[in-house]
Amino acid sequence: MPDRYAVIGNPVSHSKSPWIHARFARALGEDIEYGAIEAPPQGFVAAVEKFRAAGGKGLNVTLPFKGEAFRYCAGTSARAAAAQAVNTLLLERGAPFGDNTDGVGLVRDLTVNLQRSLRGAQVLLLGAGGAAQGVLGPLAQEAPAAIVIANRTLPRAAALAARVPGAFACGFDGLAGRGFDLVVNATSAGLSGELPPLPRGLFLPGALAYDMVYGRDTEFLAMARAAGVAARDGTGMLVEQAAESFLLWRGRRPETRAVLAELCAR
Ligand code: ATR
Repeated sequence: MPDRYAVIGNPVSHSKSPWIHARFARALGEDIEYGAIEAPPQGFVAAVEKFRAAGGKGLNVTLPFKGEAFRYCAGTSARAAAAQAVNTLLLERGAPFGDNTDGVGLVRDLTVNLQRSLRGAQVLLLGAGGAAQGVLGPLAQEAPAAIVIANRTLPRAAALAARVPGAFACGFDGLAGRGFDLVVNATSAGLSGELPPLPRGLFLPGALAYDMVYGRDTEFLAMARAAGVAARDGTGMLVEQAAESFLLWRGRRPETRAVLAELCAR
């Protein structure tokens, strides 16, 4: 019997995780099975327990359950505790243990795949919900010169900024007159075809605009291209966070380059 893993979320039918993990497993000769579990909104814990009782060894957790997964775990990594969200569950060592590989996945995509050093950079994080929360700590650890969190609802940005020394919070109108080397869109605006009201002149020369949403050409990315800067969606982050989860479960980190290239070509 292969070891069993899955992604759990709602909805989950669009998830590329089963495809990515199947590629990783094949490349490394690891005998695993990786499925997809759509849990009802109130049924996360029951679905995890069922999977675990059937011998399931690990889960990736996606929307809307990352916060609930954090509360479900008996123990978590420091980075999951900082994010207060879990995207990777380890189920085989007694009590469930949670980790969060989203932030390290984003940082790896930025620094390794896209060859962008964040050290000394002016970084803007748009949004203050779960997605922003998951990546703020790892972004801040790259020692940018400044990290600004801008959100429609200012108190949420302020609460998030308070967790990281030196981070600064503002509303979108507070961005006027400032320029950034990296702008990461962690709002869910793109999912409904919307664009946060961003002032002109946000991008410094050579800037990168990064949308954590993947597989969708968002208004944010279109706006960045129109402003003449490089624009990337979150496909690389998706593949890198998956590789980090695979490493936690199997003790081996898969190569991501070919998988990412294949995914982008699909
Ligand atoms: P997620 O876990 O995907 O981050 P969330 O916790 O609901 O989801 O947070 C969504 C984020 O997108 C929030 O920062 C939200 O702003 P508010 O805190 O003001 O609600 C932001 N967001 C969603 N739609 C937006 C829009 N049309 N314009 C600007 N920000 C938007």
